[in-house]
Amino acid sequence: MSSLEVPEIRLRPYQEDDVDRHYEAARESIDHMSPWMPWCHVDYSREDAESWVGNNCEKAGTNEGHTFVIEDRKGRFLGGCGLNRFDAVHRYANLGYWLRASALGRGVATQAVILLRDYSFDETNLDRLEIVVAVQNTASQRVAERVGAVLEGHLREALLLCDERHDAVIYSLLRSDLR
Ligand SMILES: CC(C)(COP(=O)(O)OP(=O)(O)OC[C@H]1O[C@@H](n2cnc3c(N)ncnc32)[C@H](O)[C@@H]1OP(=O)(O)O)[C@@H](O)C(=O)NCCC(=O)NCCS
Repeated sequence: MSSLEVPEIRLRPYQEDDVDRHYEAARESIDHMSPWMPWCHVDYSREDAESWVGNNCEKAGTNEGHTFVIEDRKGRFLGGCGLNRFDAVHRYANLGYWLRASALGRGVATQAVILLRDYSFDETNLDRLEIVVAVQNTASQRVAERVGAVLEGHLREALLLCDERHDAVIYSLLRSDLR
């Protein structure tokens, strides 16, 4: 069983009483989030947060339930990360992450992605994790590089963000890289 914690942070599944914590974190983060994660927009509401948290609580423990809260050792909500877009035949998934504004610039995302990578290869049958990042999103590319993900290429107009198509770069982490 992989550990979902290091001394600074831990990952845990969403729980029903996370609505206010998630909502506050999203509301303070609109400026840096909205270009890359359009769900976090100026009209993001408590109802949106309720729906997101409720959905993730329902999925917890199922094959689709690989979304985590990132929190510090005092239980402060720092952001989220998780797996999505599963391909069950070829056993790969997309890995995503975000931090609230007040948790940026401390290495939290880097640590969270390493924990999520280890969890994915220890607790699921996935062999490959993809990180797909808009070419202009340099902060996220730095995280991918810091965790040792390998840059594989350029994807033309692969992302639709706020009604605009963006080229992306794709990184991968392989189970076989860790052997
Ligand atoms: C992508 C995102 C999570 C990166 O956040 P971040 O704070 O830059 O990432 P980290 O937590 O890994 O911190 C790294 C920074 O902390 C610094 N740092 C401090 N201590 C550190 C440590 N122990 N380990 C690693 N980095 C450390 C690094 O120097 C780095 O700063 P830099 O940007 O000047 O290089 C954040 O910008 C975000 O939420 N963006 C919006 C959502 C998004 O784009 N998600 C990804 C979609 S593909």
